[in-house]
Amino acid sequence: MTRVQEDPVLVVDKLTKTFGSRTAYSDVSFTVGRGEVFGFLGPNGAGKTTTVRSLGTLITPTSGRATVAGIPLEAANAVEIRKRIAIMTEAPGLYGRLSVTENLQYFVGLHHLSNGAERIKNALEAVNLSDRARDTCNSLSKGLRQRVGLARTLLNDPEILFLDEPTSGLDPVAARGVHDLISGLRDRGVTIFFTTHRLAEAEALCDRVAILNTTLRTIGNPSELREQLFNKGLTVTTAAPLPDPDRVFTGLPGVESWDADGTAAAAYHLAVSDPAVAAPEVVRALVHAKADVLSVGESRHSLEDVYLELVNEDVEASRR
Ligand SMILES: Nc1ncnc2c1ncn2[C@@H]1O[C@H](COP(=O)(O)OP(=O)(O)OP(=O)(O)O)[C@@H](O)[C@H]1O
Ligand SMILES: [Mg+2]
Repeated sequence: MTRVQEDPVLVVDKLTKTFGSRTAYSDVSFTVGRGEVFGFLGPNGAGKTTTVRSLGTLITPTSGRATVAGIPLEAANAVEIRKRIAIMTEAPGLYGRLSVTENLQYFVGLHHLSNGAERIKNALEAVNLSDRARDTCNSLSKGLRQRVGLARTLLNDPEILFLDEPTSGLDPVAARGVHDLISGLRDRGVTIFFTTHRLAEAEALCDRVAILNTTLRTIGNPSELREQLFNKGLTVTTAAPLPDPDRVFTGLPGVESWDADGTAAAAYHLAVSDPAVAAPEVVRALVHAKADVLSVGESRHSLEDVYLELVNEDVEASRR
C-alpha cells in the first residue's frame, strides 16, 4: 500500500464507458502504485476488458479522467502513453501465416524500437518459446499463441503491463510459467494490471485486487478484504457429534456464537473475537466434556469466498 502513496503509476478517477444505452463500467476510481501487481476481478460482462481497453488507449472513455504512466489519458497523448505500456487483450492479435519471429519483428517495426533482434531474443526466452521461433503462428496451440502474445508485450520494456486473462486456456504448467513471468517482472519494477477468473491465481500473485461489477465493488489486499467481510472464526471437528454443543461453547471467553457446520455431523463454526484467546478455552471445554477432538483451527476464508459474497449480493439485489 505504501507503494501506491509513494508513486502512483495509474490514477483512475470516476471513469465511465457506455455503448449506446449499455453501461460497460461506471464511476470507477482507483490508484495503482509503481511495481504493484494489481488484479481486476469480476463476472462475465462486468466491464474488465472494456476498462483495460480504455486505459490502454484502444477506446475512449465516455466520462471521467485517468493518468496512465504519469500522462493524462487523452486522445492526443495516446502515442506517448503507448510507448510506456503494453497490452495483451483477450485475443493476442497475431498474423497466423507469419512465423513467431516475424510477428515480433513486425511489432518492433511498428513501435520503432532499436535493437530489435536482442529484444526479440529476450522476450522469447522470457516466455520459454525460443525453440518455436521459426514456426508459423497458425501452427501453434492456443497456449503457445498466448505466450507469443505475452512475448510481444515485453518488447518495449513497458512500465505498465495490461494483461487481459493471461492464463485463460493455459494448462497448469503453462499458467505457472505465466505466474513466474509476472513475479519476475514485478521484481524488475514493472507494474502489472491483469484480469482473471482464477481467484487462487489472484490471491497468490496480487498485492491488491479490485472486484468490478460495472461499478467497483471493493478494492484492497486479499487478506484485508477477508477481514472486512468475514468475522474471525474457529472450526472445531470432533469424532462424534457433541450431545449438547450449546453447553460446551456458550459463554466461553472470546467465543461470541457457534453454529453447526451443515456439511459435517461433528463440525462446528465458532465466531470469536480473538482466535488466540478462544482456541485454548475451546480445547479445555471440549476435553472437559470428554469429546474426542479431531481438530481446532482458525477458519480460513479464501479470496473466492470474498468474491462470491460480493457478487452474489449483487445478484440478490438485482432480483429485489
Ligand atoms: N464494442 C462494444 N459494443 C457494445 N457493447 C460492448 C462493447 N464492448 C463491450 N460491450 C459490453 O460492455 C459490457 C462489459 O464487457 P467487457 O467485455 O468489458 O466485460 P468483461 O468483464 O471483460 O467480461 P468477461 O469476463 O466475459 O471477459 C458487456 O455488457 C459487453 O457486452
Ligand atoms: Mg473480458
